[in-house]
Amino acid sequence: MIARPDAPLKVTGSATYALDNVIDGAAHGFLLLSTVAHGEVASMDVGAVRSAPGVLGVYTPFEPLTLHPVNSPLLGPMWLPLQDTNVTFHGQPIGFVVAETFEQARDAAGLVEVTYDERPAATSFADGLASAVDAQPAASEAPPSLSVLADGVASIEDALEASDVTIDATYETAAQNHAAMEPHSAVAVWAGGELTVYTGNQASHLVASDLAGGLGLPADAVRVVNPVVGGAFGGKATSMPAVLAAAAARELGRPVRAALTREQVFTATANRPATVQRITLGARGNGALVAVRHDSWSSTTPDLGFVEPTSHGTSRRWYRTENLEISQKAVPLNIPPATFMRAPGEGPGSFALESAIDELAASLGMDPIALRTRNNSAAPPGKDLQWSGKHLDECFEIGAARFGWAQRSPGGRVDGDWLVGMGTATAMFPGLRFPATVGVTLHADDTATVAASGADPGTGLLGVLGIVAAESLDVDRDRVTPLLGDSRLPPGGLSGGSTATASAGSATMVAASTVIEQLLTLAASPDGPFRDREVGYAHGRVYALDGADRAPMTFGEVLRSTGRDTLGTTGTTAPGEETTKHSFGSWGAQFCEVRVHRLTREIRVSRLLGVFDAGRIINPQAARSQLMGGMIWGVSAALHEGIEFDADGRVATRDLADYLLPVNADIPDVDVRFVEHPDTLLSDLGARGLGEIGLVGMAAAVANAVHNATGVRVRRIPIRLEDLLDV
Ligand code: MOS
Repeated sequence: MIARPDAPLKVTGSATYALDNVIDGAAHGFLLLSTVAHGEVASMDVGAVRSAPGVLGVYTPFEPLTLHPVNSPLLGPMWLPLQDTNVTFHGQPIGFVVAETFEQARDAAGLVEVTYDERPAATSFADGLASAVDAQPAASEAPPSLSVLADGVASIEDALEASDVTIDATYETAAQNHAAMEPHSAVAVWAGGELTVYTGNQASHLVASDLAGGLGLPADAVRVVNPVVGGAFGGKATSMPAVLAAAAARELGRPVRAALTREQVFTATANRPATVQRITLGARGNGALVAVRHDSWSSTTPDLGFVEPTSHGTSRRWYRTENLEISQKAVPLNIPPATFMRAPGEGPGSFALESAIDELAASLGMDPIALRTRNNSAAPPGKDLQWSGKHLDECFEIGAARFGWAQRSPGGRVDGDWLVGMGTATAMFPGLRFPATVGVTLHADDTATVAASGADPGTGLLGVLGIVAAESLDVDRDRVTPLLGDSRLPPGGLSGGSTATASAGSATMVAASTVIEQLLTLAASPDGPFRDREVGYAHGRVYALDGADRAPMTFGEVLRSTGRDTLGTTGTTAPGEETTKHSFGSWGAQFCEVRVHRLTREIRVSRLLGVFDAGRIINPQAARSQLMGGMIWGVSAALHEGIEFDADGRVATRDLADYLLPVNADIPDVDVRFVEHPDTLLSDLGARGLGEIGLVGMAAAVANAVHNATGVRVRRIPIRLEDLLDV
């Protein structure tokens, strides 16, 4: 087994994504989306749609597909399409047309005549700020506000006033779309009362359970399959096409395929919300933070759904300060809904906090790294639980040396027509685990499989499971086959919250040691080859502890001699007592060098370095790739990426030409390093999450480098040329 077992399939084009499952007799579905941002669908004339060539079914709020309310364990109450005539955003699914071919379905969908009773739509985040409301605790996973004050301090204002130096600034971040390379899609097939759905996701057992709920079926009647996933990033926890395809397939009695077009992905899924964040920092003259205040506003849905937990994801935990106050406010808007996107909270939150720290360093005349080191925390503010392991200072030390930080001057430097600047920022992501069950099976041919229902949406989990299983079974990696992406497999390996490696990896260790115990019991049993002997296990072999008269046997030989093909078991782990003893987080130091053209103000990123403390690194190749991808996303957030809305709430940037993403020419070599300190306080595996931390802090590092190069502090991302013109 190689470190990326899925790589040969992907680079040769032979990986089977959802729509690659060609099923005989499958019909094709096409979604119809609303063209107003707020109101009710008054009528839908579908006469011409129905009589169009090849059309098999037309579903609307007036002739809906039968669906039942779903309360998803991960996402709470799920919005289900076509169940009522309300429209709350432009681009909301309001119909589903199924035909013999994709083209027939798409063309027929264009023949529908829709009338709306329109209502005024709230679409401007800036206008909505004045009427913001407290975030709902359930949506932000955190109380809307939190205050920690030192003894004798009456308010955060008092603490700020007592500081020698204060910074007070407001930062803005743009809404983003996950824009996974594989658009959301599904193929739904009913057979014998059972439903199989091929659809990319982040945990097949959870999508299966949501689908079963929506269709009113017992949980085990739905099977979800997703051996490969073309990117997820938080946007594939649910699958709109799967819900529609499955319900229509039941209605029509034949398989149904459905896929969102690239344009539809921008509205018929969910996005990262825009944020405004006000940060006030107070410090002593020596740089010690006295007070941190972080107020955040996030756009959200009219029913107050997900908000970007920016201040919770950053200021609540990162620095030592005696006084802390944070708040999370929501601005309900008639725009497409919001959901988790890679480093929700920490991503946009770190742009604000780490820009503010850079501003404070400039005010104090201090080196930005020295200021961060000065305020390094042993525990989150107001908490007794110390970090299980935090080697942030080491990350900065190694990073500064590698990057040549000592050559940075506070005013940047000039190289011909280019203004050159360096910036840095802290990165952090909480170290979390979810309950996970993983199966390990030994086979008579001396191979083994390790299996879980979770997904590898490009993160490298497949290789991680194989490596951990091989190590735990003490066999060569090429004898272990990892399997993911089938809800019939043991429920583990959810790709979310940077949890999969620590969760499914530690469950793999349990499963492997249990199956070895079972193997030894079998070997020493009355029918076993080591009958009544004391036995041990090493290098994939069973041996007798009490003498050399008996040659060791491989586990395959033991199975064969007892007439078995396989011996398998599952292992389960879950967060436990450790969470009452320590705080857990991965940490990192981000570095960026930019070159800004003196005349055109073109911004080029010329060097990137990230040094990360994520515990033990299981699969260096995949880990490096994850972090590199995250760092590039951070550059994208800083310089390219952002959804723009028209005044009527329509998403204006709905394809990969208008929605700017960095291309290879925008990205220099990306240097990723690790400081490896296994965190066995989190789990026996020693690994902490690294899926999301790569993008955290990077946008601030870019903006801080732009400031170093030009002297211009840009507090809104993405940064544009025009932000640097009038200087
Ligand atoms: Mo990811 S945003 O943790 O699904």
